Order: sequence, then structure tokens, then C-alpha cells
Amino acid sequence: MQQHKNFLQLVKTRHSVRKFLDQPIDKAALYKCVEAARLAPSANNAQPCRFMVVDEPELKEKLAKHAFNGIYTSSRWVSQSPALIVILTHLDWISDRIGKQITGIHYYFVDAGIAGEHFILQAQELEIETCWIGWFSSKGVKKALNLPHKYQPVAIIAAGYSDTKKTVRRKRRSLSEICWFNEIK
Ligand SMILES: Cc1cc2nc3c(=O)[nH]c(=O)nc-3n(C[C@H](O)[C@H](O)[C@H](O)COP(=O)(O)O)c2cc1C
Repeated sequence: MQQHKNFLQLVKTRHSVRKFLDQPIDKAALYKCVEAARLAPSANNAQPCRFMVVDEPELKEKLAKHAFNGIYTSSRWVSQSPALIVILTHLDWISDRIGKQITGIHYYFVDAGIAGEHFILQAQELEIETCWIGWFSSKGVKKALNLPHKYQPVAIIAAGYSDTKKTVRRKRRSLSEICWFNEIK
């Protein structure tokens, strides 16, 4: 078990993984990740996110067939992941309509992003690797999973174990480039 001495170190070990071992993730571990997501903050505490874990091979295939076709074929590899966590947001009237109309901010997408990252970082602590997938057919996901109209798929998290422990760090902008105190640069 890797030891993460502090939060930043945990964050630094995370990177997107797109190839997994053929090893299932146990339910308790997945529940722990969803628990971390459940505790995420949300606008007006609306808690709009729902998490559908897809780990049955037939359903994964069905999901892949509908969600990753046409212009989305580059995401086909996702179906090889041991578990796919579909993050749904419940199109709640207040956060969806009123909030967006007044401030222009889509709070339910923000909420889903925060909850999804909570999931991912908890997974990282458990040495479960992940990749956030945003390139999929929303219509296809709804069809494959028979989703009621009120749920909007926002992301699919591909999750599994990996035998390559090396961290492939993608470049990030420097702190001075992204952070300003008291003035815009
Ligand atoms: C909103 C969002 C959508 C993404 N969509 C995809 C995707 O469809 N396919 C994919 O392979 N990676 C996807 N990624 C992963 C990013 O490419 C990756 O996080 C980024 O290149 C930084 O690399 P790192 O995660 O290894 O640090 C997505 C990430 C985010 C946050």
C-alpha cells in the first residue's frame, strides 16, 4: 500500500490511466469512493448527483455500443475497464432553471465535477486508477441504461487496477501563470 503523507502527495500520484488489469474492483471499495462523492458540497445542498456503477460485462458492452459510436469511437477502449461509473445529475428545478437563469452558472455540472473528483481521489488512495471520460454520446448513455428523462449523464469514470505504478505526469501551467493575488495579470 502506498503511503500518502499528505493530501498534495495523493493529488500528485493521480494521473489518467487508460489500460487496466483484468481484475474486478470490490464493491466495498467502490462504495467507499461513492461515499466520498456523496459528501461533496453542492449548490444549495441540492445533491443532484447519482452514481450508476456498471460492472457487468454485457451491460458494459451495451453501454459502449451506444455511447461510443460515430464521432465518439475514440472512447471505445473504455469498455475494457473493470468498472464504469456513470455520473448523473438530477435536473432539479431550482439549480437547473433559476440558478442558471440568474447567474449563468450551470450549478449541477459544477456539483458533478466536484463529486466526481472526490470519487477519483478516494479511488487513488485505494490504489484504484481512473480516467474521467467526457467524450461520449449522452443520448447513447440514456438509451443503453434506460435512464429516466430527469437524469443527465455528465461523466463516465473508467476505473480499475494497473500494474504500471509509474506516474506519467502531464504538464501543468506554472503557479505564477494561473494564480494572482489582488490583481489580474
Ligand atoms: C471534463 C474532463 C473530460 C475528459 N474527457 C476525457 C475523455 O473523453 N477521454 C480521455 O481519454 N480522457 C479524458 N479526460 C482526461 C484528461 O485528458 C486528463 O485528465 C488530462 O489530459 C490531464 O492528464 P492527467 O489526468 O493524466 O493528469 C477528461 C478529463 C476531464 C477533466
